[in-house]
Amino acid sequence: PASDPDLVERARKAKEALGDRLFVLGHHYQRDEVIQFADVTGDSFKLAQQAAARPEAEFIVFCGVHFMAESADILTGDGQKVVLPDLAAGCSMADMATFDQVEECWEALEDAGLAGEVVPVTYMNSSADIKAFCGRNGGVVCTSSNAKRALDWAFEQGRKVLFLPDQHLGRNTAVLEMGMSLEDCVVWNPHRPGGGLTREQLDRARMILWKGHCSVHGRFTPESVDDVRARIPGVNVLVHPECRHEVVLKADHVGSTEHIIKTLQAAPAGSSWAIGTELNLVKRLATMFPDKNVSFLDRTVCYCSTMNRIDLPHLVWALESLVLGDVVNRITVDDDTAHWARVALDRMLALP
Ligand code: 13P
Ligand code: SF4
Repeated sequence: PASDPDLVERARKAKEALGDRLFVLGHHYQRDEVIQFADVTGDSFKLAQQAAARPEAEFIVFCGVHFMAESADILTGDGQKVVLPDLAAGCSMADMATFDQVEECWEALEDAGLAGEVVPVTYMNSSADIKAFCGRNGGVVCTSSNAKRALDWAFEQGRKVLFLPDQHLGRNTAVLEMGMSLEDCVVWNPHRPGGGLTREQLDRARMILWKGHCSVHGRFTPESVDDVRARIPGVNVLVHPECRHEVVLKADHVGSTEHIIKTLQAAPAGSSWAIGTELNLVKRLATMFPDKNVSFLDRTVCYCSTMNRIDLPHLVWALESLVLGDVVNRITVDDDTAHWARVALDRMLALP
């Protein structure tokens, strides 16, 4: 549905009143009614780079999910305040790796004599304390745009990687981009003693994948790909690397959100595309490229419910509160966590 014109006007006025004091960042999975007010849109990597782009802005309103707002707080200056318009905008994948669980896993790896051999790599989609864990233990953050480069770097530092928290991004990158085999990858289940792995499995593995996944991308199936190919002759299937390995194997192209947009930009007019990523973005792509036939890979898969928590009423509330001098829903990361998370984020931002 079209945005409520009254709310659109209120958001516009509040933005105007705040002027250069305000910088609004919007992830590609945000609703259209919200993304229209973003000063910069991007995938997680671009938004992490952009967070620090406006040091003069007092308020950074982050239209995305909690872990992204935490990263923005870590990467921006002391005087800058980061606001998440709805605090319920979390990420189920990030919640699948808690600090205590990861510490327990690390201790078990040390007990198995693997200390010094394993480098922790965490996907951006993780809480600040997991990023800090990686910073403290010689590891790095990655996003879906640079996972291969981060893993190349990690394998220069050690023989094995503990990849948190998305098993699919870890497996897809290792197998499809780095020439590893499925046998090189094992899955650490935090709900089983010893991760559910034997000593031999840990000794043999090169990639220890955390048992986490995206509740949106994880819903596409190999049958989704078969069905769309039967429905749309000549269709190109383009999916995000958070999709399951069997889905990515059946697709024609795989890449981050930003890569998906660029691929469609470069595609010839009249070509057909089935996209396996979040629905807000797929709908926007269909509008942006009317000369191409853009469809959703599986019509039974839903929006990301937490990305969708940020809607126009919440954005208007956050902006109007700032105009009145009230910083609502501020996201802050404590100094020690921020320091070590920044070490891991800076290692990512310095990757070649
Ligand atoms: P990217 O922005 O890195 O493509 O990640 C997708 C995602 O799921 C963000 O929550
Ligand atoms: Fe988390 Fe998946 Fe939603 Fe991204 S799309 S915020 S990974 S649940």
